[in-house]
Amino acid sequence: MAKILITGGAGFIGSHLVKNLVRNKHEVIVLDSLLRGNKIDQNVLSDITFVKDDVRNFEVVKKLSNQCDYIYHFAAVLGVDVVADNPIETMDTEVIGMKNVVDAALLNNVKKIIYASTSGIYGHSAIEKSVTENIQVDPRTSYAMAKRYNEIYLKAAHEQKGLNSISVRFFNVYGAGQDNRMVIPRFFEQCISGEPITVFGNGHQTRDFTYIDDTIKACLLLTEKVNGCEIFNVANENEFSILELAKLIKEITGSKSEIKIINSPSKRYDYEVERRFGSSDKLFKAVNFKPSTNLNEGLVKIFNSIK
Ligand SMILES: NC(=O)c1ccc[n+]([C@@H]2O[C@H](COP(=O)([O-])OP(=O)(O)OC[C@H]3O[C@@H](n4cnc5c(N)ncnc54)[C@H](O)[C@@H]3O)[C@@H](O)[C@H]2O)c1
Repeated sequence: MAKILITGGAGFIGSHLVKNLVRNKHEVIVLDSLLRGNKIDQNVLSDITFVKDDVRNFEVVKKLSNQCDYIYHFAAVLGVDVVADNPIETMDTEVIGMKNVVDAALLNNVKKIIYASTSGIYGHSAIEKSVTENIQVDPRTSYAMAKRYNEIYLKAAHEQKGLNSISVRFFNVYGAGQDNRMVIPRFFEQCISGEPITVFGNGHQTRDFTYIDDTIKACLLLTEKVNGCEIFNVANENEFSILELAKLIKEITGSKSEIKIINSPSKRYDYEVERRFGSSDKLFKAVNFKPSTNLNEGLVKIFNSIK
């Protein structure tokens, strides 16, 4: 049994991780400001320590990480429109949050930090083929730049202070409980309510959608098996256009909603990457696992959980 702090543990990915860790009898502490409500399963809440506070509050991070084995650092401001409207809050949360987590981990001899980075840091560099961790990154938004800064910060903390960490570059994680800042829940809502399904740009932009259970499994295996300071993609290795995604969700829900292609608002321009899909080869070599849930299967699971 390990003692584990999860920052942002009340969020979409964090709450799935909490459930898994509790099921496996670990001692779980969640620090979350509840910026996005609390997604932690009610049945699990009594089994964890939950603290509503800000990761930018060092004293709290220090206290909660006392005697912890691991810190999953997931607290972040995200969602294209939210980030575009709040760039300073986004960067503050990343940069100050990471400094606090690193300082607290060093003080408390935490064995490893597992940090939620993003495929967004590849920016426009993924046009030709699936991206591997060693290609030149191209972060262009406040969010992606801060994530990249933090990866480099963790590398420095390893080189200078010996702190172990893994930065996990997530590729469009989806699953039950996600909210409509993200495209998949938005399309489900539009399909179910009969509203038009709004696709930005021309709809041909692609993404690599990775199912939540695969994402959690990868994080847990990396925690267990990888030491030092490393960066890993966790990608499904499948490319789908946003238009294909809209059609798939329309079909699964049996919706009569029309698919409406609309111009991207100008504040979204920096985020509009034409193509993004990842390679999980490095992950597979390290832990003998890579995400494999196909998109249709994952979407059906979501539909079954909400209908
Ligand atoms: N969902 C994805 O597809 C995706 C892709 C790439 C990276 N990520 C990263 O994974 C992590 C988890 O993402 P998610 O999808 O669960 O997002 P989420 O918004 O559901 O969860 C983030 C949580 O962080 C909390 N938070 C925000 N600011 C905070 C602060 N200052 N102090 C304490 N808590 C704060 C929020 O209340 C929220 O519960 C984030 O770091 C995100 O950047 C997610």
